[in-house]
This record gives sequence, structure tokens and C-alpha cells, in this order.
Amino acid sequence: MSPKIIDRLTIRRPDDWHLHLRDGAMLQGVLPESARHFGRAIIMPNLVPPVVTAAHAAAYRDRIMAALPDGMAFQPLMTLYLTEDTDPADVARAHADGIATAVKLYPAGATTNSASGVADFDKVRPVLETMAEIGMPLCVHGEVTDPDIDIFDREAAFIDKVLKPIRKKTPDLRVVMEHVTTQNAVDYVRDSSKNLAATITTHHLIINRNHILAGGIRPHYYCLPVAKREKHRVALVQAAISGDKRFFLGTDSAPHTDARKLQECGCAGVFSATNTMSCLAEVFDAARKLSQLEAFASLNGPAFYGLPASEDTITLVRGAPVDYPAHIDTGEGPVTLFNPGFPLHWHVET
Ligand code: NCD
Ligand code: ZN
Repeated sequence: MSPKIIDRLTIRRPDDWHLHLRDGAMLQGVLPESARHFGRAIIMPNLVPPVVTAAHAAAYRDRIMAALPDGMAFQPLMTLYLTEDTDPADVARAHADGIATAVKLYPAGATTNSASGVADFDKVRPVLETMAEIGMPLCVHGEVTDPDIDIFDREAAFIDKVLKPIRKKTPDLRVVMEHVTTQNAVDYVRDSSKNLAATITTHHLIINRNHILAGGIRPHYYCLPVAKREKHRVALVQAAISGDKRFFLGTDSAPHTDARKLQECGCAGVFSATNTMSCLAEVFDAARKLSQLEAFASLNGPAFYGLPASEDTITLVRGAPVDYPAHIDTGEGPVTLFNPGFPLHWHVET
């Protein structure tokens, strides 16, 4: 018997557990693209200057809410950018007051706007101890920055050199390995009994490193961590469709203007907010696992963060391929939308 073909799917409203909204005109341009489908998002703090204190986070949250178009509902869940000078008491206060949901660890120099990140992990030990006590999650950009380590090996090296020691010293710390890109990370999360989860982006479920480099260089697919070889992409898809509560969606939608992507040293980041739900439905449908899309996009994330799943729903419908714009216009210039490289038959019904 052939499996029943599904052409409509209603799921709880999804959340995005890793999102870059930027600030100013860019924020204004990209926020509606996320708020259209997503109820909540973990907002990355890598502005220039970064969102370090509770006061910064509260002010940034206010700017996000001010940029939200009338009639749209969206809850930004703020994060604090961990520096070697972060004050544990300020972090605890931000958490208790509901201003910050998580703290973000960038190894210094790992990615876009990470210069103020952590170089000496012992210096942030008091903050991590405090977070373990109060149950505040640490979101981790899991790449070492050692120039001697090959860029394709930086995630795997981070697990051994940084993450394992941190988790050994602070076993009660709740950690989200963000935007995992390797089989190694998937295995590490699967093998750990508690306090560890991972987000997976839309684009890492779809592209491997050939998409970036074979037959010409495609800057719009360049992001960090960089996409790896095909076997890793397959491992990510397996994790995402498995229903395993430790894996959930974090798009890492990271807008840069085309001018900043297409230059001699182009910025890292893929912008996928607009068509993420269509892309995910296509990926889950191809794997005959549409039944697990809700767990990945709408249930597992809130469960890890100790928040209720959304009471609201969205409906995905399968039909003729949907035309998304190639780019969205922002006050800072055009931002190219992620191109999955295949037709998108699923769209969110309005
Ligand atoms: C992000 C950005 O542009 O802020 N870029 C990216 O390639 N993902 C930073 C990050 O999350 O690493
Ligand atoms: Zn990111």
C-alpha cells in the first residue's frame, strides 16, 4: 500500500530558537519576515556594540517591539552576549526579571561580530556557575578559532576541546549547541543524558559544501559554521526528522545586504526567515516525516526552554510551486533570500 499523500498540515505556531534581527533599518526590514510565521524567537545579541547587559537587552527588546508592524504578534526572547567581564549578578537579575532567556557564548573571533567573545573560558566560570544554579541556558557557537584548525574541523574540535570540559566542570549547566553542522555534534548530543540540546538551521538541512564551492563560488550559501560534506547533512536531516526532543529549529537567519555578501571578503550568513517553513515542509515531506515537523519546529524548543508550546496554529498547504522573491528590500539595501535549489510546493496559508 502506498503511503497516504498529505497536502495539508496544521501544526502549532513554530518558534525560531536562533535568529539575527539586527537593528535600525535592517531590523525594520527583516522583522516582519520572521513574525509572519513564527511566534517567538531567541534573538542573537551580536550587534555592534553587542548586547551585553540586562539594560542593553531591555532596550533592544523595546526597539524590536517598536519595529513590529501593527497587527503582528511576536515575542522576542532576548539573550546576553557573554564577555570575560560579564557580571554574574547582572545575568541573574536579567533572568529573574524576564529580560533575558539565555546567554550566548561566542568564542572570540569565531564569526560575525564576535570580537568581544570569550578567549579564556576560565574567566567566565562564575557566570556559568550562576547560570547552572538558576537554570538559565547557555547558547553556544560551537567552533574553535585556532587558525591552525581547518575550518571544516572546527565544530568537532570545539566539542572535545571546549564543550566537554565546560560540561564536565558544570554538569548542571543547560547547553544548546547552536546550528550544528556535523555528524559528530549530532552524536555528541544523542549520547548525552541531560542538559544538552541542539538547534539545526534550515539551510544546513539542504546544502552541503559542494553547493558553496562546486561549479563556481556561491557567496549566499556561505555561513558559519560552514556547511560540511553530504554525510553530515544527512545526519542533520536524520536528527531533525527523528522527533528526538533534543533537536529543534534555529534558523540562524542572518541577513547581510548583498553589497556586504558580494565583496572581496564577504560576510557569513544565510537569510532564510521568509521561506523557512516552506523549505522545512519540503525536507520533511521528502523524508516522509511530515508528522515530525511540529516536534522539530514547534514543540521540542519550548520544552527545552521550559516554555509552553504555542496555543496558536499555522496550516501548511501543498500546491503549485510557490514563487518567493529573490531578495527582500530593506532600508539598508537588498538582502538575498535563501535559495533551496528546488521548487517549494508548500506554503503557509494566510
Ligand atoms: C551570523 C551573523 O551574521 O550574525 N552569521 C552566520 O554565518 N551564521 C553569526 C553566527 O551565528 O555565526
Ligand atoms: Zn547565528
